[in-house]
Amino acid sequence: MMVMNKLAKFAVAFVGAATMVGCCSNECAEKECEQCTCDKESAVVENIMTRRSVRDYKAEPVDRDQMAKILECGIYAPSAMNMQAWAVRVVDAPDFIDGVTAIAVEQMPQLKEQPNFRNFFRNAPTVAFIAVPDESYSGEFDSGLLAENMMLSAWSMGIGSCCLGSVIPVMNSDAAKPYLERLDLPEGYHLQIAIAFGYPAGEAPAAPARDASKAYYIE
Ligand SMILES: Cc1cc2nc3c(=O)[nH]c(=O)nc-3n(C[C@H](O)[C@H](O)[C@H](O)COP(=O)(O)O)c2cc1C
Repeated sequence: MMVMNKLAKFAVAFVGAATMVGCCSNECAEKECEQCTCDKESAVVENIMTRRSVRDYKAEPVDRDQMAKILECGIYAPSAMNMQAWAVRVVDAPDFIDGVTAIAVEQMPQLKEQPNFRNFFRNAPTVAFIAVPDESYSGEFDSGLLAENMMLSAWSMGIGSCCLGSVIPVMNSDAAKPYLERLDLPEGYHLQIAIAFGYPAGEAPAAPARDASKAYYIE
C-alpha cells in the first residue's frame, strides 16, 4: 500500500513537473531536447524528501538481487581519498536476528512492550551492519555517506530502512560475542551502525520537524 502511494506520488511529481514547466525550460521543451534532466531531478528530490525511517516491516527478507544493488550504491558513495573506510555485512538469517533479539530482550525486557514487537531491529528481516576502522579520520563520515546511499537507493525500490544506533551496545556486549564474531569483521574494525531494511508493513510516518535555520548563506 505504502509502495503504491510512493509510486503514485512519483507519478504525480512527474506529471506535475511536466505540466508546470514541460521540460528544463520552454526553449528546451520546444526543441524536444533529449538531454532534459527535469524528470531525473524531480525523481531524486522526491526520493530524498519522501524517505522516512521505517519501523515496521513485512516478514519477507529483502530480495538478495535488490540488496546487491543497494550495496553497490553504497560502495559508490564518496569516501576520503577513496579509502572506503568501512566494511558492510548483511544478515537475513532468522537465527541471527532472533538470537540477538533474545539477548536484547534479556538486557531490556521493556522492548517486548513495543507494539507488534517481533525483533530488536524494528521488526526488519534484513540488517546491514557497518563497521569502520578503529584508527581512521574519515570512517564515521565515509560510513555515513555509504549508509545514506544505501537507504536512498533502497527507498527508490520501495524498500524501507532505519539507522539503528541502539543495536551497537547490544552487539558489543559479552552475550552477543558469538554474533559479533559471525560478522567476520576485519581486524581493527568496530561496529559503527546497523541499518534495518525491509518492505514496509504500513504507511510511512510523517517527517519529524526539521530546523531550516541551521543552514544558510553567508553574503
Ligand atoms: C546515527 C543514527 C542512529 C539512529 N538510531 C536509531 C535507533 O536506534 N532507533 C530508531 O528507531 N531510529 C534511529 N535513528 C533514526 C532517527 O531517529 C531518524 O532518522 C530521525 O528521527 C529522522 O526521521 P526520518 O529518518 O524519518 O527522517 C537513527 C538515525 C541515525 C542517523
